[in-house]
Amino acid sequence: TPVPPFDLVIFGAGGDLALRKLFPALAQRNREGVLPEESRILAIVRKPEDLEGLPKQVANRLNEEGLAAEQVAAFLRRLTVVQADALKPETFGALKTALGDTDRVRSFYLSTPPELFIPICQNLAKADILTPTSRVILEKPLGHNLASAREINDAVAAILPESRTYRIDHYLGKETVQNLLVLRFANTLFERSWSSRDIDNVQITVAETVGLESRAGYYDKAGHMRDMVQNHLMQLLTLFAIEPPNMLEAGAVRDEKIKVLKALRPIVGPDVQRYTVRGQYGPGQMDGQRVRGYTDELGYASNTETFVAIRCEIDNWRWAGVPIYLRTGKRMAQRYSEIAVTFKPVPHSIFGGGSCDRLDANRLVIRLQPNDGVQLQLMMKVPGSGRLKVVPRQLDLRYSTAFDERTPDAYERLLTDVIRGDQTLFMHRDEVEQAWAWVDPIIAGWQEYSLHPHRYTAGSWGPSQAIGLIEREGRSWADPD
Ligand code: BG6
Repeated sequence: TPVPPFDLVIFGAGGDLALRKLFPALAQRNREGVLPEESRILAIVRKPEDLEGLPKQVANRLNEEGLAAEQVAAFLRRLTVVQADALKPETFGALKTALGDTDRVRSFYLSTPPELFIPICQNLAKADILTPTSRVILEKPLGHNLASAREINDAVAAILPESRTYRIDHYLGKETVQNLLVLRFANTLFERSWSSRDIDNVQITVAETVGLESRAGYYDKAGHMRDMVQNHLMQLLTLFAIEPPNMLEAGAVRDEKIKVLKALRPIVGPDVQRYTVRGQYGPGQMDGQRVRGYTDELGYASNTETFVAIRCEIDNWRWAGVPIYLRTGKRMAQRYSEIAVTFKPVPHSIFGGGSCDRLDANRLVIRLQPNDGVQLQLMMKVPGSGRLKVVPRQLDLRYSTAFDERTPDAYERLLTDVIRGDQTLFMHRDEVEQAWAWVDPIIAGWQEYSLHPHRYTAGSWGPSQAIGLIEREGRSWADPD
């Protein structure tokens, strides 16, 4: 369905995110006829040479994405490049002129460091560019701790209401993440056993094979906790654990998410040492190639973590006593993200006498990437008329085989949701602040107890301490298949 006519202004248009994700997502939507004819994309650049340079960069990027020449040309016709300096209100005149006087939905995507969120919003207001329906989209991370997030939220709230502030976490736009809600609330099967009564433990893994890439300036300051845990992992955890909202609507879903975040048991003081593991990758082999360690890539010494593992618990009626293990890192053995739910074992095995070594517990895996889909591990009888033999096997439902439809990139979905005015897959300020309130004491604990990151070999599953974190409780990380 086409979205209403819009003007989308992108600050930070020459940056990594815009080129890698935003322009390709918009071009896909354009190709599919979702963007109405009169809609425009206005890319803000700071340097005059980018006025001509940016369209070329965008075209190259879209070519790499495999878009046909006429689709690239059609997209470029919508693109207007405008020069402005986020910190200088006097430079916003060109943007005001370019936007003109229309009643199109006007959205501003701040794909910039969070330090620029406040000045950009203030300068848009000063330049009288905001209309009564204007929206602002704030990219993660929103600040670097609770205090800075609050400061941003307060300053933005003085200019735009919460209902027109879209805090993006692209994990919420991933198909499998949305499917998590469908899986839970459109099937009776799982919901009935979705609690401490039947679930033994939950593991959320987001493993990447990439290293620092070209983001040293940002990443080394932020670290993996702020880059991935405070947002993506906590959002996955929250959606996994929420109570059923009464309808799929922004307010109802967000209210439930906030309750989970509030129930997350704080990890403070000595517990930081006990329940969290920081890691940093050293050199190693990946795909037969030697790769450099983190500090070699950086070119200087650093204690920034590139890996985090945490054992946490949700203190509420449904989840009390169920350990939730989070694990995420760069330069890990394989790129894969999943939520693995291990159910409790059967109370008593009737299959003695060598039928099986042990009865594996049922395990439901919600796989985000690659091979997005859902797997359910069941114990099965091996066919044959001899001695009964019982082994674990998978029910394996993959998106690629279950559906003919293309799986869109997360940003495709989220960008059109903004234009449609649907905030369900965006974070309320309370969620972001509550997530920081949980993360801050862990980061403070790392400093207080001088918990430097443990070294792990690039291409491995992280430091051995992360394996110890789960094994000392008699469990092990779920292996990807
Ligand atoms: C981003 C992080 O938000 O998510 C990156 O800043 C990370 O460091 C990326 O690589 C991972 O996203 P995806 O969709 O590739 O899992």
